[in-house]
Formats: sequence, structure tokens, C-alpha cells
Amino acid sequence: MTIAFVGHGYVGLVTACVFADFGNKVWVIGHTKEKIERLKAGDPIIYEPGLKELLQKNLKAKRLIFTLEYDKAIPESDIVFIAVGTPQKKNGEANLDAVFEVAKQIGKHIKNDGFTVVSIKSTVPVGTNKKIEKIIIANKPRNAHVAIASCPEFLREGTALYDTLNPDRIIIGSDSKRTVEMLLELHKPINGKRVLTNLASAELIKYASNAMLATKISFANLISYFCEMTGADCETVLEAVGLDRRIGRMFLYPGIGYGGSCLPKDVRALIHTGKILKLDISLLDAIDGINQQAAKNYLAKVVKHTRGKNIAVWGLSFKPNTDDIREAPSLVILHELLKRDFQIRVYDPAAQDNIKRVFANKLRYADSPYDALKGVDAVCVLTEWNEFKQIDLKKVKVLMKHPVIFDGRNIYDPHIMRKLGFEYFGVGRN
Ligand code: UDX
Repeated sequence: MTIAFVGHGYVGLVTACVFADFGNKVWVIGHTKEKIERLKAGDPIIYEPGLKELLQKNLKAKRLIFTLEYDKAIPESDIVFIAVGTPQKKNGEANLDAVFEVAKQIGKHIKNDGFTVVSIKSTVPVGTNKKIEKIIIANKPRNAHVAIASCPEFLREGTALYDTLNPDRIIIGSDSKRTVEMLLELHKPINGKRVLTNLASAELIKYASNAMLATKISFANLISYFCEMTGADCETVLEAVGLDRRIGRMFLYPGIGYGGSCLPKDVRALIHTGKILKLDISLLDAIDGINQQAAKNYLAKVVKHTRGKNIAVWGLSFKPNTDDIREAPSLVILHELLKRDFQIRVYDPAAQDNIKRVFANKLRYADSPYDALKGVDAVCVLTEWNEFKQIDLKKVKVLMKHPVIFDGRNIYDPHIMRKLGFEYFGVGRN
């Protein structure tokens, strides 16, 4: 098949590379010349394990073509995916400007003498796909046949390729039988349960999934406060809770709050839709509130227990295996520590350049986790990168002035840390 993607972020680029690897001809349309040139040269722009190799392999095989021009890619394509961002507006609403503009361009350039499927992968509020359909129909050539489908994407950053190749489910929301058949055909090499439904259900499945994940995380954070106040150990509590197969252990890890480009934004967009529908959204409000409180609680611990203002921060990205710092809890924590005159030396294996763009010379930047520690009064662990998990803790202790650890991701065992002579502060642990 020949397909096109508009957008080359985590969803667009990863999915485009995977479909190209299956042997399809895949166009990828962008709107920034410099980025398209970099992609053409085999640079994925974003950091995602395995992506560079897959991109270069499929560029070389000429199955993957990057362009700025709709008129080259769209008329040739049987299926066009919209995978552009829907960032959050100040009021929490999803900003759909890019999606609507892209829909207009697709409509204008769609082939006049055949059938095209336009499938929306961007996370859009329920009802948006119908609006997209109207825009495309209003702009398309007279004899063009087009149908819309909603195919939300559930890939996670850091494991995006694995998730795309091994999804739990593939959602296809469409009223058109032919569209469903074409999308089923395209997804044939990928396992996972197929859920065939209507547009509104598909749109809501994505928000409901992300809100459920956010609920589990905020619930874990709330329970961690109960643990801190009562002498319970939240890792043991949540492990035992998660052993109940109706609940499960995944996404029950407390910490400094969820970040990233999806969970915070999607919970707020759902709140906004709920308000429009005049629903009681207090549950969603509480999830968002607890999440914001998580970073503040961690900060309060650091401020209360440090023995000096010279600290190291390990981990800056919103989660491991990515350089992404969008809505990363580290941003709030660093800003607040700087306000309180802390001197901070940071280390992250991938996100350091992105943090530099935000904080410039307000922070000092280390070359290794050890390099960040010389003479510091404490170390704050904000992202659970593997390289911190079995670090030489004896060496760590020797380098620090005061061996105090604020473990925001519970990667160390409190008893072992105390035995080694550290003053240890985890989340929900005593
Ligand atoms: C999420 C969804 O998981 C994915 O299905 C969707 O397509 C996009 O949004 P992503 O943002 O890449 O994916 O990361 P995810 O692994 O969900 O983690 C989000 C945040 O939650 C991270 O900041 C992470 O540290 C935090 N988290 C996750 C916790 O604090 N505790 C947990 O138990 C799990």
C-alpha cells in the first residue's frame, strides 16, 4: 500500500517507520524545512531506542520519503494518517488548530478519481473527527471519495517501537466498511485485539485509557502519603494491592508525579470536555491536583532535610529512555529549588541538552552521575534511569559532602542505604 503520515513526532515517525519496514511505501509530510532535511539525512530528531536504525534502513530501501509538499504525497496515498500535536491551551482545552489546518490541506490534495481513507491518530476530543470530516469534504475535489477513521495510538515514549509492534489492542473507529477493511489489511502484520467501533467511542477510548493510567499513578501517590504518616511501606502495600489480579501492579508506582506530553494534557482536556457536557469532573480534578502536589511534596522534603544548598540532580527527563522534558516534574522542582537559592549540578544521559535550553547557566552540567556529586550536600533522583540503579554507592558516598539521598522514584532499598551510611528519603517509605 502507499500511505502518508502528516506529522513526524513520536507517533507519526515511529508508526511510519514500522509500516515502511513491512514493505509499504510511506510518505511523511512535515512543515519545517530544517527538520525534513534532517529526517531525509537519517536523523530522527527525537531520541527513541532503535528508531534511528529503522529510519536509516527504510530510507535506504526508498520506502520512506520525507517531504514538505502535500501535492506529492497525498494524491498517491490510499490511507493518510493525521499525527500532528494537539497541545494544551491555557484553559486545559486541546488546541486543534494544527489538526484542522492539516485536514484542509489533505482535502485540497486528495486524489480526484478514487477512494482515500483519512485516519486520525492525534489525540482529539470526542466529536473532533466529525469536524475533520466536514473540513475535508468542504475542500476535496468533486469526484474524490473519502472516509474518516479514528485510530488512536497508545505507544509510550522510550518503548515506542516495541509498543507499535506489540499493542494490546488496535482501535478502528469508522462508519465505513471499506475503510475498516483497508485499515485491517494494513495492520495485518501486527498482533493485538482488534476493536471495531464508531468514531466517538474510538476518540473516547484514548482519553479514558490515559485518564485511567493517571488515576492509578495519583492513587499510588495518595497511598504513599498515608504510608509516610503511619510507618507503612508503600512499595510493600502497593505490591500486595497489585497482586489482586483485578487491580494489577502496573502504573501503581508513586514518585514525583506523572509528566510527559500525554497524561497531564489528556486529563485536562477530558476535564474541559466534561465541563462543556456539564458532568461532575471532581474525580479528574483530584487526579490532576494530586499529581501537581506530588512534585511539591518531594520539594518540601528536600528543603526540610538538606544540610546545605549545594545539591546534585540525577535524571531530568519525564521518564527513562527519552530526552523528552515536556511537563517533566524535574522542571517544577528545579525552578523551585533555584528560587530558594540552591546551587544545582545536574546529570541526565539524554535530556541534558533540552534542560540547557530552558535553564542555560542557572544550572551546572555534569558529564557523569559521579561528576555531579563532588562536595554536594544531597543528591535528588528524579528519573529512574537504569544507570543509577546499581551505581557504586560507596563511591557515591565518598564524593558527597553530606550523604543524603532524596529518591523520587524509590529505586534504592532504604535499609541498605542506611546501612551504607546514607540519610535516605524515599516516597512513601520510612
Ligand atoms: C502515555 C501512555 O502510557 C501511552 O499509552 C500514551 O500513548 C501516551 O501517554 P508516555 O507519556 O510515553 O505514555 O509515558 P508513561 O510510561 O505512561 O509515563 C507517564 C508518566 O507517568 C511518566 O512521568 C512516569 O514517570 C509516570 N509514572 C508512570 C509514574 O509516576 N508511576 C507509574 O507507575 C507509571
